[in-house]
Amino acid sequence: KPVVLSGCQPSGDLTIGNYLGALKQWVNMQDDHDCYYMLVDQHAITVRPDPQALRKATLDGLALYLACGIDPSKSTIFIQSHVPEHSQLSWVLNSYTQMGELNRMTQYKDKSQKSEANMNSGLFTYPVLMAADILLYQADRVPVGDDQKQHLELARDIATRFNNIHGDIFKVPEPFIPKFGARVMSLQEPTKKMSKSDDNPKNFVGLLEDPKKILKKIKAAKTDSDEQARIYFDVAEKPGVSNLLSLLSCATGQSVENLVPQYEDKMYGHLKVDVAEAVVAMLEPIQAKYHQYREDQTFLDKVMREGAEKASAKASKVITSVYDAVGFIPRP
Ligand code: TYM
Repeated sequence: KPVVLSGCQPSGDLTIGNYLGALKQWVNMQDDHDCYYMLVDQHAITVRPDPQALRKATLDGLALYLACGIDPSKSTIFIQSHVPEHSQLSWVLNSYTQMGELNRMTQYKDKSQKSEANMNSGLFTYPVLMAADILLYQADRVPVGDDQKQHLELARDIATRFNNIHGDIFKVPEPFIPKFGARVMSLQEPTKKMSKSDDNPKNFVGLLEDPKKILKKIKAAKTDSDEQARIYFDVAEKPGVSNLLSLLSCATGQSVENLVPQYEDKMYGHLKVDVAEAVVAMLEPIQAKYHQYREDQTFLDKVMREGAEKASAKASKVITSVYDAVGFIPRP
């Protein structure tokens, strides 16, 4: 079976963007792939979160993975910091990554423009750790949202460079980006992506949010003010309406082409109510299961323990061959 690997940062509530861009694909890939899904707590510390908040977000994230349908009997679910090979490989790969490459990462550029106070080197080398996450499992496919595409290209470049120098050590991974839902946009500023770390909570919908709040947020979503408030799909001209149509399409499984004619003579308000109700219906079963898992610490511990064991078994083989390739002598 082809190997799949992906992860989310445990930082705040995961959003419908994370679900539609990533988690939903992860669930679908479980049957015909050998899947590794992790919570990347080591990536999350680059913004120095409160330790208690990070612990909570990691367990919340784990329970959410399970509630979304990631099944520990099919997939390997683990916490990044439980598998030390990630940081080991990351250090090696740092020496195979150029400063210029990291400087070109748009996510880093955005962050460095926004945050003045804490531009630490972890934020800069973040994509190298991500490359290590992927290459450590010889992943064939990496299901992610559109915003991770550039990081994935870097992982491919690092793998290729390393292989050119040391022989075929790494599999060069392919991105797997869904056709719809790969870029869920902010509700109030539909030209930027929906993000769980957005300062304005009106911009995103959390997977665990109260249905009443979700209805309110989506009804208040910014729609485009042109003279004739027509409903059609055009990301450049109508970013707000197009985002709502994409959401409706993802949540109902109907194509955008099918949906548009149904709204020909209708008003924005009508579309918003339908989107809100569809999103609430999509989240209902996830929310119901979440609380069950979140309260069962014994089960969560078992998932983490078994996941880390399986992940380590695979990762330790790859790190051994990498250490050998670069010339480290084995510990006698
Ligand atoms: P993170 O935690 O920001 O996001 C997790 C996943 O959700 C996707 N995503 C979205 N998809 C559609 N619309 C959106 N608005 C949206 N927002 C987020 C992301 O593309 C991602 O797939 N660096 C990664 C985590 C990571 C990783 C990895 C991923 C670390 N190592 C190895 C894959 C493989 C990140 O910060 O994702």
